[in-house]
Amino acid sequence: MGRFMTLLICLGCLGIALGYPDGKISVACDSMLPSHGGNVAQTSVAPYIITVSNTSFIPGDKITVTIKSNSPSTTFEGFLLQARLFGGDGIAGTFTTTDSNAQILPCGAQARAAVSHNSKVSKTSITALWTASQEAGPVRFRATVLNSFSNFWIGVESDTIVALKMSNATCGSQKFCLTDPTNCSPSDNTCYFMSSSPVSTNGYVFEMSGPTPGYVAIGFSDDNKMGNDDVFICTKNSSGNILVQHGYNTGTVAPTMRNVSSAGSIVSSYKNGVLKCSFITSSNSSTLQRASGSSSYYVFLVSGPSNADGKIQKHTKVVISSHKVDLSTTTSVTTSNSGTSSVVLGHGSLMLIAWMTTGSIGMIMARYMKSAAGKPFLGKAAWFQVHFFLMILTVILTMIAFIMVFVNVAGWSGGVHPVLGCIVMILSFFQPFAALFRPDPKHERRFIFNFGHGINAFVIKVLAVAAIFLGLILVDISPNQWMPKVMGGFYAWEVLFYIILETNMHLKTKDIYKNDYKIEIVALAIFICGNLAFLVALLVGIGQSA
Ligand code: HEM
Ligand SMILES: *[C@@H]1O[C@H](CO)[C@@H](O)[C@H](O)[C@H]1NC(C)=O
Ligand SMILES: *[C@@H]1O[C@H](CO)[C@@H](O)[C@H](O)[C@H]1NC(C)=O
Ligand SMILES: *[C@@H]1O[C@H](CO)[C@@H](O)[C@H](O)[C@H]1NC(C)=O
Ligand SMILES: *[C@@H]1O[C@H](CO)[C@@H](O)[C@H](O)[C@H]1NC(C)=O
Ligand SMILES: *[C@@H]1O[C@H](CO)[C@@H](O)[C@H](O)[C@H]1NC(C)=O
Repeated sequence: MGRFMTLLICLGCLGIALGYPDGKISVACDSMLPSHGGNVAQTSVAPYIITVSNTSFIPGDKITVTIKSNSPSTTFEGFLLQARLFGGDGIAGTFTTTDSNAQILPCGAQARAAVSHNSKVSKTSITALWTASQEAGPVRFRATVLNSFSNFWIGVESDTIVALKMSNATCGSQKFCLTDPTNCSPSDNTCYFMSSSPVSTNGYVFEMSGPTPGYVAIGFSDDNKMGNDDVFICTKNSSGNILVQHGYNTGTVAPTMRNVSSAGSIVSSYKNGVLKCSFITSSNSSTLQRASGSSSYYVFLVSGPSNADGKIQKHTKVVISSHKVDLSTTTSVTTSNSGTSSVVLGHGSLMLIAWMTTGSIGMIMARYMKSAAGKPFLGKAAWFQVHFFLMILTVILTMIAFIMVFVNVAGWSGGVHPVLGCIVMILSFFQPFAALFRPDPKHERRFIFNFGHGINAFVIKVLAVAAIFLGLILVDISPNQWMPKVMGGFYAWEVLFYIILETNMHLKTKDIYKNDYKIEIVALAIFICGNLAFLVALLVGIGQSA
């Protein structure tokens, strides 16, 4: 076996050493080295250049690639041309050619992946047409060009051409991505998206995208707080020009800015309220030079409004990676999502306590426990005292939670959850005041109060259910989003008890069985235990979302 392999390899050496005048050099796809005997590549600047017809592309676009010599007297006999993903060594896209001096080659399993000479004829230029594939990120054309058998240059490269269409297709495999919501796509108008892939020591391709009136920015920090962070900002001035800037956050104030030094083209767009920028930082001038000297950072993605001249104002949206990310690697880095700030989690916890226990039990008391808990307690019927106390507690908890999140967010982040939350807040606020001025129970118009109070309670309950549901979706960063599902289980539990108690009440009014209150009391006890179990589960989940 060993001897057989040696024989094969030697035959291979022989083949390569003799050269491939026919250009069938797929064997050299990976290294792009001609292995021409003992000859090594020239180290001087190559007398050849690669030009491209367009510096950006969207998948499916065709770009004309030309290898040409610097002067008519310099010719070349052979070449191997490929498109390589900037940042990795992956081969991108496919080629076609009508050039009589060129042919298309496969590389491994990839058909049409390279272009080469088809004879030793001396030429000064060749052209080929490259078609961008779906997943291609920034791409560089790379060639080995042979002036003669022993005189050749490797690593002749074109300018980097950038994908106009940002995509999440290679997140986790070829680039690191931070998105909100989890795993969203930058072609979705509600998606906050950033990606990074290393291109050389300290150089990166960055992409950022998000719905915003003014700017999106990415930041790299040693901690998960603002201050001492490298930031790259994509901002729009009032004439609609998009500017890319590099800066440094000195604290929680606007960062000090420098122009971004970009080795590759900046691609930017503003469509449907979504601002996008992608660019390549050069290896040195815009490095992320953190004091620690490590390449692991917390990554921020923020957006907010900007002034007429593009100067940024305080963000209205902040996404923070849940842990430090090593930007020098891209493979196997998975998307991480921001942990939620503790104020927001406090807000959520209070709302859950208010609407899963106090509010929920208080409402059950008023509807089903009137006769079971009809004995007077401190001057009024016991059910009323409990209902009154629990509902006032609910409104107070709701108000504290409401104020908490508004102070924290300091701006309207938009979405259905806050709208529903505000309506619930206003309606809940009315409920105790209206109750304060209710007519006497024996008053002829008392039914109006009863009806209005009941309807309002019902509307509040329905909206609160929806708001809490949406809120949990926002807060839940677990991959399987279990919290909204548990909440769904809780609502089913609640509906079950409404059905049981409603049926019980109905049967009693029809005198189908005797009035004893065991059923109500037992049902209430079970209901409360269940509520507490669901509540604890969700509070634990909220604790884990930090
Ligand atoms: C005019 C520019 C900016 C101002 C005035 C500003 C102001 C603030 C303030 C006052 C806070 C404290 C917490 C809060 O009130 O929500 C904060 C938090 C934060 N900022 Fe900025 N900021 C600006 C730009 C940026 C930029 C460009 C980035 C990064 C790309 C950034 C990243 C953050 C992060 C990650 C937090 C932490 C949020 C949290 O704890 O929930 N900020 N900012
Ligand atoms: C370059 O490609 C972009 C994106 O497909 C296209 O809009 C633009 O017209 C092209 N420019 C040239 C000069 O071909
Ligand atoms: C890209 O986005 C789509 C749509 O949101 C999603 O289904 C898909 O899982 C995402 N892919 C990656 C690799 O994140
Ligand atoms: C940014 O670039 C512009 C034009 O290239 C230049 O006029 C300006 O002075 C630069 N600003 C800074 C802060 O370097
Ligand atoms: C690159 O950065 C290093 C360290 O900051 C510096 O010493 C060096 O002069 C820089 N090189 C260039 C070309 O800017
Ligand atoms: C917006 O930026 C462009 C390019 O830098 C500049 O020519 C234009 O004057 C700016 N407009 C305003 C209102 O600052």
